[in-house]
Amino acid sequence: MGSYADEINKRRTFAIISHPDAGKTTLTEKFLLYGGAINLAGSVKGKATARHAVSDWMEIEKERGISVTSSVLQFQYGGFCINILDTPGHQDFSEDTYRTLMAADSAVMVIDASKGVEAQTRKLFKVCVMRRIPIFTFINKMDRDAGDTFELLDEIEKELGIATCPINWPIGSGKEFKGVYDRENRCVVTYSDTEKGTKEGHATTIPIDDEGMLLSHIGEAFKEQLADEIDLLDGASAEYDLERIRAGELTPVFFGSALTNFGVEIFLQHFLKMTTTPLPRRADIGLVDPVENTFSAFVFKIQANMNKAHRDRIAFMRICSGKYEASMEVKHVQGGKVMRLSQPQQIMADERKILEEAYAGDIIGVFDPGIFAIGDTLCMPKEQFQYEGIPTFAPEHFARVRQLDTMKRKQFVKGITQIAQEGAIQIFQEFNSGMEEIIVGVVGVLQFDVLKYRLENEYNVEIRLDNLPYEHIRWIENKDIDLNTLTGTSDMKKIKDLKGNPLLLFVNQWSIGMTAERNAGLVLSEFGKN
Ligand code: G4P
Repeated sequence: MGSYADEINKRRTFAIISHPDAGKTTLTEKFLLYGGAINLAGSVKGKATARHAVSDWMEIEKERGISVTSSVLQFQYGGFCINILDTPGHQDFSEDTYRTLMAADSAVMVIDASKGVEAQTRKLFKVCVMRRIPIFTFINKMDRDAGDTFELLDEIEKELGIATCPINWPIGSGKEFKGVYDRENRCVVTYSDTEKGTKEGHATTIPIDDEGMLLSHIGEAFKEQLADEIDLLDGASAEYDLERIRAGELTPVFFGSALTNFGVEIFLQHFLKMTTTPLPRRADIGLVDPVENTFSAFVFKIQANMNKAHRDRIAFMRICSGKYEASMEVKHVQGGKVMRLSQPQQIMADERKILEEAYAGDIIGVFDPGIFAIGDTLCMPKEQFQYEGIPTFAPEHFARVRQLDTMKRKQFVKGITQIAQEGAIQIFQEFNSGMEEIIVGVVGVLQFDVLKYRLENEYNVEIRLDNLPYEHIRWIENKDIDLNTLTGTSDMKKIKDLKGNPLLLFVNQWSIGMTAERNAGLVLSEFGKN
C-alpha cells in the first residue's frame, strides 16, 4: 500500500445532476462556502460574469454567454477532499454531460420541490443507473410552495425506478416552511432563513418528544400532521440500507433550500458519511484498486480550442489509482508511448492552476497535441492494461450535412472526422453509401452550431445542415443481423457508423417497439460500445 493511501481515502468525487434551474449552482456555491473555498457564496459563478470567465475559450460561448464545457471544483471539508463535477445544462447539454458521469463515484440529484422529476434529470439518471453509481437526492426550494411530499417521492420511484429513503422530512413549505424532521436523531430542526452568503443559521433543534417546544415552534396543526406522517413513513418507506444505497438501488432523500442555506450542511455531512472513497475501476486485467496500484487514469473528455491562438486541446482525465506527480513519465496505452504529461492542471470554475501532484479520485486536464481519444488509458511505463471503454450515448437530434464548396472535400472530411473524434458530435452514413452523404447526430442542438462554426473557422469549410425528423437512435446488439433483410416501419432509417456498425434511426418510440416486434430476437440498445 502506498504512503498516499490517506490522501486517496479522503477523496470523494461526485457529479451534480439536475434539470436547469433546480438549484445546482446555488447548492454548489453553498458547499464551497462550507468548505471555506470562498468567502461569500455567489462569488464563484455569479452567472453573467463568471460563466464568461470560465468559458471564453470559444467565441460561440462568448456570444451566447453560456459555457459549453463542464468544470471541476475541489474543496476541503471536515477532513475530506471533495471533487465536484459540474454537468452543464440548458442548451449546452451535450454528450460531455453524460461522459462527466463516467468520472464520478456518485451523483447528487437536485430536484425542484415544486416541479418534481424533469426531463434532463431523467436522462442523466439513466446513465447513473447504467453505471450503478449511488444517487443522493436533494429536494430543493422548500422555501417555495411545494407539492405533497409523499407524491413527490412516489414520482421519483415511479419515474426513475429507484426506491427512496427520506433521511429527513419537511414540515410545511413556502411561507409555511417550518423545518425538517431528522428521522435518525428523532428531532426537528427549525427553518431559519439564513442571510445570503453566511454560514450561521439560527436553527433550533427540538427533540420530537418535547411537545411544548414543538408547539411553540411549529404550531398545533403541523405538529399533528408531522406525527401522522412519521407513522406513515416508518410503516411505508424503504428502510435505510447503506449497501443498497452504494449499489445505486436506493436513494437517500434530503429536503432543504439552497438559496436560504437551510439543510445544506446537514446534507453534506450525511452525504460524506454515506458516499464512498474512490472506487476500483474495471480494466481488461480486472478491477484496478485505487490504493493498491500505482498511477493510472482514463480520458473522459476532450475539450478543443481552449486557447484560440493555437489549435490545442485539453484532455480531461480521471485518476483511478495511485499518485500523479508533475514530472513523472507515464504510458499512453493506446498510443503505445511513454511520455510526460504536458502542463497538467486542475480546471476550476474560473481559474486553472498547474498541479504538482494529484491522487486517485482527482480530475486533471492536460495539454493534448492531438494524441488522446476518449476512453484512453494512462498508466506507469512498466504496466500494461486498458480501462473499459466509455459508451457512446444516444444523440437525439440529427441533420444531414451538405458541404457548400465541393472542391474542399478533403478538408471537410478531415474536419468533421476530427471533431467527431473529440466526441462533441457523432457522424453516420447512409447504410448503403460512403462518406458522400453524412448524417450528424448530437445530444444538444448547440453542438450543430459549434460544428458549423468550427468547420468554418478551423477548416475553412462551409456547410449547410438540414434537420432530419429522427429523435431516437438504437445500436444493434446482435452480431449476425443482416440489415438488408431487417424490416422496420416505413419511417425507420438504416445507417452505419464510421466503423461500419449498423444502427437504426426512429422518429418515435412507437416505431422502435414495432421494429422490435417484427424482427424476433433483435436486441436494440440506447448505448453504443466503443
Ligand atoms: P441551476 O444551476 O440548477 O440551473 O440553478 P441555479 O442554482 O442557477 O438556480 C436557479 C434559480 O433558482 C436562481 O434564481 C436561484 O436563485 C433560485 N434558487 C436556487 N435554490 C433556491 C431555493 O432553495 N429557493 C428559492 N426560492 N430559489 C432558489 P434566478 O432568479 O434565476 O437567478 P439569480 O438571479 O438568483 O442568480
